[in-house]
Amino acid sequence: MANSLDPAATADDVKRINALLPVKAKILRITQETPDVKLFSISTLDEQLPFPVSPGQLVMLSVFGMGEAIFAASAGENCLEVAVKRVGILTEALHEAKAGQTMGIRGPYGNGFSLDIFQGRNLLFIAGGIGLAPVRSLIKHVLNHRKDFGHLQLIGGFRSPKDLVFKRELTEIWPVSEDFDVAITVDKAEEDWRGHVGYVPDLVKKLKPQLDETACILCGPPVMLKNTFNVLEELAFSPENIYTTLEMRMKCGIGQCGRCNIGSCYVCLDGPVFSLAQLRALPDEY
Ligand code: FES
Repeated sequence: MANSLDPAATADDVKRINALLPVKAKILRITQETPDVKLFSISTLDEQLPFPVSPGQLVMLSVFGMGEAIFAASAGENCLEVAVKRVGILTEALHEAKAGQTMGIRGPYGNGFSLDIFQGRNLLFIAGGIGLAPVRSLIKHVLNHRKDFGHLQLIGGFRSPKDLVFKRELTEIWPVSEDFDVAITVDKAEEDWRGHVGYVPDLVKKLKPQLDETACILCGPPVMLKNTFNVLEELAFSPENIYTTLEMRMKCGIGQCGRCNIGSCYVCLDGPVFSLAQLRALPDEY
């Protein structure tokens, strides 16, 4: 195989090889988002962006001696931002890490959201829990190019008020952004919670988001996705205008492990972003 030093290497060869080579990186900052989610700002050792990512793409993080795992990433200032929920050995090791610690990062992986398709349209974002991470990446892009998009609406659902990830953006920044409606619901409230209580699909049904020229972008747990797809279709959204990312199925990110396939489709190679119309043509395993 050609390598990046081989004069015969094409741009695609170099891209493929780079996708397998970790860049030595360091943790610039760690923000505790919720009791079990931390946001890592990751830069190169000289505090530059490791590589560009588009909204919806993923990166592979490696903790030396512990292994690696794949996460949604968004571009921050001179860094990549990765939200990590503590769910296993690798994420536990990440949660134990300190700012300044070195690690490996490679990528980006996946198709990401097709920004051209959303241009000029109203956007309805629906996110559950840590599923807000890739959606936030798209929201950041939209807010940075505000004139290119229409009305914005976000419906976010969390287990409880203490599980609100990106709380400052959710409660302080986005609700006062131009033409941006934000609604939050929790499965279980605490005494001082004054917002909605209940599941995301029920809130979508209650709010009846506007349909005209609207593209809907969802990310969250499978049960939330399936029930919300049904509600959106009841509200007359067409499957062609509903998009989701199945990033939670990705493991190796490069078509090697065979853990992400749905029928003949590989989520890591063909996605992770799909329209509901595309998913409906696949076996019902998503
Ligand atoms: S994530 Fe390994 S084959 Fe797709």
